[in-house]
Amino acid sequence: MYGARARREVYYTLPANRGIVAKARHSQPTGSFSGNSRWAQCGFASELGTNHLTGQTESLFHVLDPRQFSRAQLDELCVLTTKVRTVAKSHQGARTLQTLLASRRAMLYFTQPSTRTFLSFNNACHVLGIRTSEIRDPSTSSEVKGESFEDSIRTFSSYVDVVIMRTRREGMAAQSAALMDRIRRPVPIINAGSGRDQHPTQALLDIYTLERSFEAGGGIDGKVIGLMGDLKRGRTARSLAYLMKNYSNVRLVFIAPESFRMEDDLKANLRDSGVEFMETEKLGEVISDLDAIYVTRLQSEYDTEGESSGFDHTPFTIGLDEMQRLKADAIVMHPLPRGPELHPSVDTDPRAMYWRQERNGMWMRAALLIKIFKVEDQID
Ligand code: NCD
Repeated sequence: MYGARARREVYYTLPANRGIVAKARHSQPTGSFSGNSRWAQCGFASELGTNHLTGQTESLFHVLDPRQFSRAQLDELCVLTTKVRTVAKSHQGARTLQTLLASRRAMLYFTQPSTRTFLSFNNACHVLGIRTSEIRDPSTSSEVKGESFEDSIRTFSSYVDVVIMRTRREGMAAQSAALMDRIRRPVPIINAGSGRDQHPTQALLDIYTLERSFEAGGGIDGKVIGLMGDLKRGRTARSLAYLMKNYSNVRLVFIAPESFRMEDDLKANLRDSGVEFMETEKLGEVISDLDAIYVTRLQSEYDTEGESSGFDHTPFTIGLDEMQRLKADAIVMHPLPRGPELHPSVDTDPRAMYWRQERNGMWMRAALLIKIFKVEDQID
């Protein structure tokens, strides 16, 4: 049934010249760089992401692409997220968290619409005592006076310790990270959504939601996960699919109409990583096999020739009928915002996980900032 390939261990590393930085070798993001190569600054360390002498995973610096994460880092981030979420429940714990990064400042540069990602990053910063500045509309910045994108990013990095950014065009977070490396400014760049391409922090919170939901059922390993909707232009589904190479025997089921199927580059990556997947247009034929279904909306904002007009959502919708056919312990996820593909009547079903998923975003993003600034030892 699946595009089966023998699973094999693949230790994926990104080409250094893409400016995509996986695991910082050196400690403080705001400290000085030792050595003068980009590898020394924030390049890849061991391919496994774990230092075998200390057992610690390598630290994070720029967060640009889901492929930079190892299983060890994902597990560590999940544990840290639970810790932050738990500590924050008490008044004393919340006050401790507030002091963790109180001397830090963050820039939220969101030039593409956002509700959840913006608010959850902003509030994750507030949970940790980080003060935030924001630009959400480039017409209010010097970009309208003709200032270049790189000059704008360089300016932000003069004032803050981390830049969190969402852009309509692909590759701009990677370009910003490369700029920081080039000018030797130790300001991490976090990709909060880069066009149709990637949304790595959404994928992290999705992993956390899956892990939490399957806690009593062996975690993500071995699960059958359906991804449905506009898989061609939906960056959340792409980023989550990339992370699956870190889990054993996960099988992906892409449920999409012909015109919105997953792109070939992603499928090639899954084949290379030994992740099994299949594609179908018929939800009804697979729904009862799924442990999770990740529903996504039509990304009509990327239409160039009215691709979305007249699209029939009906075969790619989750409503009460579909819920009856889903396993009793399966879950429904959605990155939100939703359209007609996910009926509000599903909200009260205990398998509906999307509101929890949304809230997990704040905790996971707080954990990520804690990791980037290396203060995790201070919350024990
Ligand atoms: C997603 C996005 O912006 O890609 N939303 C989000 O960040 N939670 C999904 C979407 O807009 O469809």
